[in-house]
Amino acid sequence: MKRLVSGIKPTGELTLGNYIGAIQQFVKLQDTLEDTEFFIFIADLHAITTPQDKQLLRKRVRDIAAFYIACGLDPHKVTLFVQSEVMEHALLGYIMESTAYIGEMERMIQFKEKKQKEKATGVRTSLLTYPALMAADILLYDANLVPVGEDQRQHLELTRTLAERFNSQYGDTFAVPEGYTPKVGAKIKNLQDPTKKMSKSEAETEKAYILLLDPVAQIKNKIKSAVTDSDTKIYFDEKKKPGISNLLTIYSALTERSIEDIVKQYENETSYASFKQELAEIVGNHIEKIQKRYLELINSKELDEILDKGAETARLYARRKMTKVLSRLGLQRKK
Ligand code: TYM
Repeated sequence: MKRLVSGIKPTGELTLGNYIGAIQQFVKLQDTLEDTEFFIFIADLHAITTPQDKQLLRKRVRDIAAFYIACGLDPHKVTLFVQSEVMEHALLGYIMESTAYIGEMERMIQFKEKKQKEKATGVRTSLLTYPALMAADILLYDANLVPVGEDQRQHLELTRTLAERFNSQYGDTFAVPEGYTPKVGAKIKNLQDPTKKMSKSEAETEKAYILLLDPVAQIKNKIKSAVTDSDTKIYFDEKKKPGISNLLTIYSALTERSIEDIVKQYENETSYASFKQELAEIVGNHIEKIQKRYLELINSKELDEILDKGAETARLYARRKMTKVLSRLGLQRKK
């Protein structure tokens, strides 16, 4: 039996980037992979690497859980849980900190970027050690496959290094995971500056990102007002036409049609208008369906039951794994 593990941090509202780069991939893999157990969680311990408002954090944790299901994750097939409800993540996180070198942490691109942003409020130590916790999240379940967007690849590489280092120091303990980034949609771009990734926290204007909770009319407007170049031909070229290429990527991800096929459909157009108009409808309608299911779930008892059960299942795996890890390290009084 193989295992797939992935998570999302509840630091902001979910964007179309999180959806296409992560959640939609989880759903596709759930529907196609056989002989694979899925552990999908809400990475709330990762959220407190930067200051958080308590009420808002609680809301965002529930939001992600509801969106996971609203987007199509099936709680009968997937163990869905909140990271902080399985204490072993933090314990193995510490052990991973004790496996990693400080230079490895300092080299992480996300740390370098976020360190700049957090200067005003003070950079928390956990912002530096965060990839060790992420490694723990993955290794705790012996994940073979970890679907993530492009921005998380470096953390995943480090996870592989830490697993191999631990295994060679203490004996074979962890599965060494493989990353999985989608061919289309691993980096959805900012709609106003398509050289950057779509991210609410890194954007200067609301028009730059689409939130899964944005009103549908606003979502459509954001697509229609996305920045594109002055040439009017529609084709995929990330360097010459980053705006149009980003929109083509979104189009392809949401319709499951190939980019070539979409380009062919619009090859005789002399402006971007109908392409943008049609994409606005596709994105708006797609998210509207998700929002309906989200609204049914968000205050339901069902959601809590799913998360309670998920944490229970995850704990069983995590405890068993930690017994082995502690024994490997000699952190076990009785043999
Ligand atoms: P986070 O919460 O920043 O993002 C969640 C997932 O969404 C992907 N993503 C994107 N994909 C495409 N285009 C975008 N614009 C875009 N923005 C975000 C991210 O790559 C990610 O897959 N450290 C992780 C959470 C985490 C985790 C883990 C993931 C904690 N432990 C263990 C996998 C396994 C993070 O901060 O992702």
